[in-house]
Amino acid sequence: MLNAEKTVTATNFRNSEKNLHFVHIKKGKTRSCVMCHNVHASTNEHLIEENVAFGEWNLPIRYIAKKNGGSCFPGCHAKKEYTY
Ligand code: HEC
Repeated sequence: MLNAEKTVTATNFRNSEKNLHFVHIKKGKTRSCVMCHNVHASTNEHLIEENVAFGEWNLPIRYIAKKNGGSCFPGCHAKKEYTY
């Protein structure tokens, strides 16, 4: 899921063939799965967290699931959408 920069099969967290799991987890970024996913308490689709820790802040992720993709507007970057 994470080691391919481009894929159309490994994950749906991708924009067309650009693997967004790869983008967020690739070496050097030290991002972990639980930054976005919460296996216990999430009420969002795909077990996406409500908030993301960014340094000492706790920022809302503002994730919206769509039929063939989704969007995020977290504190980390401007609103971005993906479509698979
Ligand atoms: C930057 C946020 C983010 C991070 C970090 C992240 N994920 Fe995801 N993940 C998502 C989103 C968003 C989806 C929903 C994709 C869709 O179906 O639209 C998703 C979907 C998934 C799925 C469902 C299948 C798929 O890939 O579509 C699995 C399993 C998964 N993630 C596992 C992981 C694991 C394991 C890690 C850590 C190695 C991880 N995720 C890290 C955001 C993230």
